[in-house]
Amino acid sequence: MNLDKIPRSNLERLLRSMPKAELHIHIEGSLEPELIFTLAQRNGVTLAYPSVEALRAAYAFTDLQSFLDIYYAGASVLLTAQDFEDMAMAYFRRAAADHVVHAELFFDPQTHTARGVSFETVITGLTRGCERAQRELGVSSALILCFLRHLSEDEAFATLEEALPYRGQFIGVGLDSSERDHPPEKFARVFARCRELDLHLVAHAGEEGPPAYIRSALDVLHVERIDHGVRCVEDPALVQRLARERVPLTVCPLSNLKLRVFDTLADHNLAALLDAGLAVTVNSDDPAYFGGYINRNFVETFAALPQLTPRHAYQLARNSFDASFVADADKQRWTDALDAVFAAA
Ligand code: ADE
Ligand code: ZN
Repeated sequence: MNLDKIPRSNLERLLRSMPKAELHIHIEGSLEPELIFTLAQRNGVTLAYPSVEALRAAYAFTDLQSFLDIYYAGASVLLTAQDFEDMAMAYFRRAAADHVVHAELFFDPQTHTARGVSFETVITGLTRGCERAQRELGVSSALILCFLRHLSEDEAFATLEEALPYRGQFIGVGLDSSERDHPPEKFARVFARCRELDLHLVAHAGEEGPPAYIRSALDVLHVERIDHGVRCVEDPALVQRLARERVPLTVCPLSNLKLRVFDTLADHNLAALLDAGLAVTVNSDDPAYFGGYINRNFVETFAALPQLTPRHAYQLARNSFDASFVADADKQRWTDALDAVFAAA
């Protein structure tokens, strides 16, 4: 397989058809306006928008917080386990169409328990969705519980307590929501407890927050992956460390565009991060809100950054398997499938 002989004209087809893992997707962020309206009707929930079109028109964000306000409002239609299962299955169908073979899904239990929806309801519906994805679509998956960082560490501990009876149904914990002024250190003790419980650890850092938050996510929380992390480039010593330690960064280009982390996709630093030797992956974050699922992230970013080649495409898919929390045998099987696609290109 000579990656450098593959013509760039094959690139879009390869990006779409290559097997890949998605490691940064908030399942509540996959809730399309149409499904929001269907669930609102089913559950008798009144929405602040009169139509699907009016809701979609409100998706004009200026920063992370302006998105989060609408995203939490959208999640208010989720009440029953069936709702969570339907949301997950809608995502998995899109993911399967994009040749996602494995997805690690973030979910935000506090968004739901604060509205009186039990943790059990949330995890039961999502688990059913994951099981159906394997059975009906052949897509492997796992769940990662995210703590909302704008809430307190005590509230995170309370959520962990509620979750522990379901310890077998999620593989790790993460940290999401408003990054500014909520440094990883705020959650040092709850992450230490999760570490004792042998949970995988990840955290959003360096999306809107400074590179120092990436450092403290690594040194204080001991996370295994950084979600986003694109602001690491402001600290060259940190970039060297991330490369040396092969710390995966789950990058989400269309999210960064829509939340104004970069002005245009042509300004995105994905190629620079790859060329610095970082273990970067491409992901959709909140695809219903940011204009596309994982393949659209790949295709639009490669179109905007002409320095990206088939070799980079291969590397990104390869990184997604290497950075996933699955058994080595699964990584090998998917890497073999990836190699076969590129060998035939
Ligand atoms: N929750 C959902 N999407 C998020 C993002 N991009 N950053 C932080 N929290 C989130
Ligand atoms: Zn995210």
